[in-house]
Amino acid sequence: MSVSKAVRVLAMTLLIGPAIATGIASAQDSKEKAAAVTDEDGKYFDADGTPTYKIQADGTVDWYTFSGYRRYHSDCHVCHGPDGVGSSYAPALATSLKNMDYGTFLSIVAEGRQSVGGGKENVMPAFGDNKNVYCYMDDLYIYLRARAVGEIPRGRPPKKEDKPQGAKDHEASCMEG
Ligand code: HEC
Repeated sequence: MSVSKAVRVLAMTLLIGPAIATGIASAQDSKEKAAAVTDEDGKYFDADGTPTYKIQADGTVDWYTFSGYRRYHSDCHVCHGPDGVGSSYAPALATSLKNMDYGTFLSIVAEGRQSVGGGKENVMPAFGDNKNVYCYMDDLYIYLRARAVGEIPRGRPPKKEDKPQGAKDHEASCMEG
């Protein structure tokens, strides 16, 4: 094999390798995958053990979905637009989360991200030191997941479950620690 061919093959491997890996890690989320199968004190998990929402037939949302709605609108909405619909500055998270797994979401929010291109610089701040965000990461994820799979409409959820003791305990220890 010529040197230039070898370089091309290597380049292809480097390009395609990660693409395949992400493809597997972030297969599209759906209502079926996000269905709540376990309930730990008002916090719901899907079949993979990933946090998820629970919406009752009358539209009542679980506490975390509601809390995520509120947290999103205090800390993310200024850049990402109301209800996760996006803005000219930052992507629509109600779309991004269709193809983003939980771990990726957590690490982007904690570490931030930056892309420079086309003469435009867009910065996603790191929230790893911001308790108002990192103490509520699951709440944010759960709310945006419900938006991404089309389970809740835009706007404030009209009815919610009571705040579970587990949420109160987590909040107290996280905000203090
Ligand atoms: C100061 C503006 C700003 C704020 C506030 C902000 N973001 Fe971002 N965010 C961005 C920008 C800009 C990007 C795109 C960065 C890039 O292109 O790499 C982004 C990207 C992301 C991504 C990756 C999306 C994708 O499609 O790859 C996630 C997830 C995200 N933000 C979550 C959040 C959450 C959750 C909050 C609130 C806690 C938040 N962001 C607050 C500006 C912001």
